[in-house]
Amino acid sequence: MIIGVPKETYPGERRVAFVPSSVPPLIKSGIIVRIEAKAGLAAGFTGDAYADAGAEVIDDREQVIRSADVLLQVRGLGANPHAGVADLQWMHDGQVIIAPCDPLGNVEAVRQLAERGVTLFAMELIPRITRAQSMDVLSSMATIAGYKAVLLAADRLPKMFPLMMTAAGTLTPAKVFVIGAGVAGLQAIATARRLGAVVTATDVRPAAKEQVASLGAKFLAVEDEEFKAAETAGGYAKEMSKEYQAKQAALTAEHVKKQDIVITTALIPGRPAPKLVSAEMVKSMKPGSVLVDLAVERGGNVEGARAGEVAEVDGIKIVGYTNVAGRVAQSASSLYARNLFSFIETLVDKTTKALAVNWDDDLVKATALTKDGAVIHPNFQPKSS
Ligand code: NAI
Repeated sequence: MIIGVPKETYPGERRVAFVPSSVPPLIKSGIIVRIEAKAGLAAGFTGDAYADAGAEVIDDREQVIRSADVLLQVRGLGANPHAGVADLQWMHDGQVIIAPCDPLGNVEAVRQLAERGVTLFAMELIPRITRAQSMDVLSSMATIAGYKAVLLAADRLPKMFPLMMTAAGTLTPAKVFVIGAGVAGLQAIATARRLGAVVTATDVRPAAKEQVASLGAKFLAVEDEEFKAAETAGGYAKEMSKEYQAKQAALTAEHVKKQDIVITTALIPGRPAPKLVSAEMVKSMKPGSVLVDLAVERGGNVEGARAGEVAEVDGIKIVGYTNVAGRVAQSASSLYARNLFSFIETLVDKTTKALAVNWDDDLVKATALTKDGAVIHPNFQPKSS
């Protein structure tokens, strides 16, 4: 079996789908790993590092794609709609592609890949079940984004994070408020604490309260009857009532104006990101303050956040970068490669080491978008006219 890893072509994408340290276990199983030259360079992995690990490093992109039984990407066609089209001609029948591919946002790309006869697995659809934790690419990237969000804010803040007692006097610590204490938010809290900030955090899930406290941050929320019942059976946030949202907004407004940094990560599955920081709240902050909106790709939690940009209002910066995990390309690629490795293991026969997709496996059912020329995932069928 040949696993192919092409260089990513989405503008500004520095991550790579597979890293040298994940190559040897595959080689030991008799699997060939074929990687396009320079594919890992932007993430800090040289061709020599891949070759030393046992991979074949070749210049010819067409060959990497055509010859692969399994193709690994950071951005499949749906998540790389312009540059990604050039590769379609080399994708073929019987080939497996594993990648995040934004199927909800780009059903047409799913259909195009189905037409090429490939079997497409969407990594962002890995279910959040215990067995699949090691494959959970969303958590991997959220962890890195949460960490980096704090550094992006720290770099722009005209003040230090820690309390400093010097001969010349005392500097007060920075105040950081994290809205949404899921995977990204908890990592942001931990990172801001390590740098010495005074951290508060909020969430609408009662389970978050203890997790926030365990990281040494103070939990702040409207803890009424609705809050106590707010978590879904799957552990996710529910959309809150208008009354709750009003109480939450009043609490947020009072708190935000005293903060140096606000980091927002709040999402509700299948819904646009809730707007939690209004333009007035932004303006109530001191000049020099920084907001980082990690939910910007889903519409944003902060009014005025612009995807891919740093907006400025009265000397207050709103960082709206997308693909924040990609800014820590080496670590993001390493975690992603481990997610892929775990997933590939479930698709390979343990004895023969050949591809043997078990179509009854819940993981396969949740992630397989196309098979035998058709879109097979029930949620992503093209609408019939
Ligand atoms: P997410 O990325 O969907 O959302 C981020 C956070 O925003 C969540 O904690 C959510 O409760 C919060 N939020 C939503 N609306 C809000 C509002 N109006 N105000 C304040 N906060 C708001 O969340 P993520 O990181 O995916 O985690 C959500 C849940 O999934 C957690 O319970 C987590 O433990 C669980 N999880 C389970 C995994 C597994 O079983 N393999 C893996 C990762 C997370």
